[in-house]
Amino acid sequence: METQKVLLSEKEIPRQWYNIQADMPTPMKPPLHPGTGQPAKPEDFAPLFPTSLIEQEFSTERWIDIPEPVLEKLLTWRPTPLQRAFALEKYLKTPAKIYFKNESLSPAGSHKPNTAIAQAYYNKAAGIKRLATETGAGQWGCALSLACSMFDLECKIYMVKVSYDQKPYRQLMMKTWGGQCVSSPSQDTNFGRKILADDPDCSGSLGIAIGEAIEDTVTSENTKYSLGSVLNHVMLHQTIIGLEAQKQFDVLGIYPDVVIGCVGGGSNFAGMSFPFIRDKIHGKEVDIVAVEPTACPTITRGPFAYDFGDTAETTPLLPMFTLGHNFIPKPIHAGGLRYHGMSPLVSQLVVDNLIQPRAYNQLQTYQAGLLFARTEGLICAPETNHAIAAAIAEAEKARDEGKQKIIVFSLSGHGLLDLTGYENYLNGNLTDYSLGEEEMQESLKSIQSYPRI
Ligand SMILES: Cc1ncc(COP(=O)(O)O)c(C=O)c1O
Repeated sequence: METQKVLLSEKEIPRQWYNIQADMPTPMKPPLHPGTGQPAKPEDFAPLFPTSLIEQEFSTERWIDIPEPVLEKLLTWRPTPLQRAFALEKYLKTPAKIYFKNESLSPAGSHKPNTAIAQAYYNKAAGIKRLATETGAGQWGCALSLACSMFDLECKIYMVKVSYDQKPYRQLMMKTWGGQCVSSPSQDTNFGRKILADDPDCSGSLGIAIGEAIEDTVTSENTKYSLGSVLNHVMLHQTIIGLEAQKQFDVLGIYPDVVIGCVGGGSNFAGMSFPFIRDKIHGKEVDIVAVEPTACPTITRGPFAYDFGDTAETTPLLPMFTLGHNFIPKPIHAGGLRYHGMSPLVSQLVVDNLIQPRAYNQLQTYQAGLLFARTEGLICAPETNHAIAAAIAEAEKARDEGKQKIIVFSLSGHGLLDLTGYENYLNGNLTDYSLGEEEMQESLKSIQSYPRI
């Protein structure tokens, strides 16, 4: 019998994170201070993050030790299995081998606790009492609530309204772990009140929710901000996914031809792919595929430019693919992929042709998710379904070309609290959304005057 899943022992958990900044062919462009247009300095981030995380944000050290208390908590569910999708392969009649790294096994149901736990630890160690954050689909809010409960911190979460209404059980999970979750735009911040005054039915966006969380942070005592994606230190913490996967492929004695992840802000994709991109930079042949929705086509259609990370224009200007910080994507169910920007690290690697960007329509991703559920049994998050759609496309291509490819994707989260989306799909009530060119150009007007790259 062939191996169904590779399990590492607790002793084999990686003890260092991998920092891709040490190996990038093009050095990163610096974030800019929006007032001066000059490179932002570490101290500019001090109101938002503890020193330890700011150091990681700017670090070019290749390996960074994972603190013991973080490892201890990660061991609650890590290392996660690398699993083989035999039934899906059989259904597709493909000679390809399809593997997935199952990040849905964390207590919160996704990859997000990998960084939430690290961030909560570093804030606690710096004497911080409370964290404020935003959440799209609710996965990040759950992860941070969980992490804050582990390290005895208070947690306030601004949840994008469309997801708040679609996913009531996510709110309840956050509350169960002790977090306080409000719908964004909210009445709790000046920025939220202003947006609601202009548009009482505003469905919210990650950019707005980030703006609210930042305002909360800088106006509250003993509070820091925590971001679930986009920033360098978040990508760093997620690399434990790909580092484990590499050890697991070593156990099998094989190496993947294609590595796939869905991208919202870029963190599960980065976590899975950066260790493999390191090999690619050093000559290995491997395709790295990042998948986003056609409703929010940041890396497939947006320009690489300086832009704010939030709608309130409070963050430094980040060098990234962007659709403009005022962009509000259509309410697709993959709430975690509705972000106007992209991790600067992922963006630079796209520019350097180390990553292939790809976009799929909502219906195609649900079709893929349903097929995966009916073959492999796992009901995945709508975000994850984007990665599954790409894995299926790659496996079909391998079949048509008669190639025995090895494909791996990041199964970033389960969809057991996303069943409304599946219900809508099954009842024929879901539609595709592709961002119109005119709408995109309109949105990009907001960044016209910013420094060019
Ligand atoms: C299950 C899942 N996958 C993917 C994402 C996208 O985020 P990122 O690109 O940071 O991995 C999210 C975001 O909420 C998510 O919940």
